[in-house]
Amino acid sequence: MQTITTVAKLRSTISEARSGGKSVGFVPTMGYLHDGHLALVQASQMQCDVTVVSIFVNPTQFGPNEDLSVYPRDFPRDEKLCHDAGVAILFAPDAQEVYPPGFHTFVEPGELAKPLCGSFRPGHFRGVATVVSKLFNMVQPDVAFFGQKDFQQCAVVRRMVSDLNLPIEIVTVPTIRESDGLAMSSRNRYLSEEERRRALAISRGLFAAVAEFQEGERNARKLLAMAKQHLDTVDRLQYLELVDADTLEPAQSPLGRPAALCAAAYIGSTRLIDNVVLGISGGCGAE
Ligand code: PAF
Repeated sequence: MQTITTVAKLRSTISEARSGGKSVGFVPTMGYLHDGHLALVQASQMQCDVTVVSIFVNPTQFGPNEDLSVYPRDFPRDEKLCHDAGVAILFAPDAQEVYPPGFHTFVEPGELAKPLCGSFRPGHFRGVATVVSKLFNMVQPDVAFFGQKDFQQCAVVRRMVSDLNLPIEIVTVPTIRESDGLAMSSRNRYLSEEERRRALAISRGLFAAVAEFQEGERNARKLLAMAKQHLDTVDRLQYLELVDADTLEPAQSPLGRPAALCAAAYIGSTRLIDNVVLGISGGCGAE
C-alpha cells in the first residue's frame, strides 16, 4: 500500500495503477475506521481492480459549534487497517492540500440537502458535496462507495454526480451494525457504556417499524408512531421522518414506493443518525 499526501503524487500513482485498463474504486472517509468502512473497501475490491481510500476530516462540513476539533483520529491505526485490508492507495492530504489559500469555490446541492440533517446542520451538505467533488476530481475513480447509514449524503452525492455529469458510478453499501443493532459510526466512540446501552433505542425503534411494515402496515403515521415509542427514550430526538427514498419528501400513505425511515438523536452530547429502507418495488432508493 502507498500512503500519499499530495494531489500531484496521487495523480501520478493512480495513472500508473490504471495502466492496462485497470478500474479504480474509491472509498472516501474521515478516518477512525470501523467495519462499516471496511465493508466499503471490500465492496470496492469485489468490483474494481485498484482500491483507493481517502482519510480527510473535512472542515467545511462541520458547523461552528460541531465536533471538528475533537473528531476521533488515529491515523497509524487507520493506516494499518487499510494495509491489512489490501487497500492499494491511501490518500491522506492535510487541510492546506485540499483547501489551499484563496480557495473560494463551493458546490451547492439543491433540494435534497434541505430536509432531515440539512435542516439542523446548515451548510453541512454544501461542505460534503464540495469535498466529494474535489476528491472525485483528484482520484478520478470509476466507482465510489458510500455507506447507507448516511442516507441523505448518498442521495446528495448521487444527485450531484448526475447533475454535474461526473462519469462515476455510485454504490451504496448497506449499514454495518454491531451485533446488538447499533449502527457502526466513528462517533460511537464518544459514548460512555451507559450511553451506548441507551443508544440502542434508535435501532430498536427503526427495527420495530420494519417489523410492522413486514406485517403489512403501509400507513406512514402508524409506522412512525411505532418507531417513536422506542425513540422517545433518547435524550433528544432531533428528527424521526419517513421520506420517499428518492426525493426525501415526506412519504405518502399508503406507502407505494420505497421509503426511508430516518432518525437523528442525541445520547448525552453525542448526535447519532440511523435509517432503514422500507422497500417496495417501484423506485430505486438505496441499493
Ligand atoms: O461520510 C463521510 O465520512 C464524509 O462525509 C465524506 C463522504 C468522507 C466527505 O467528507
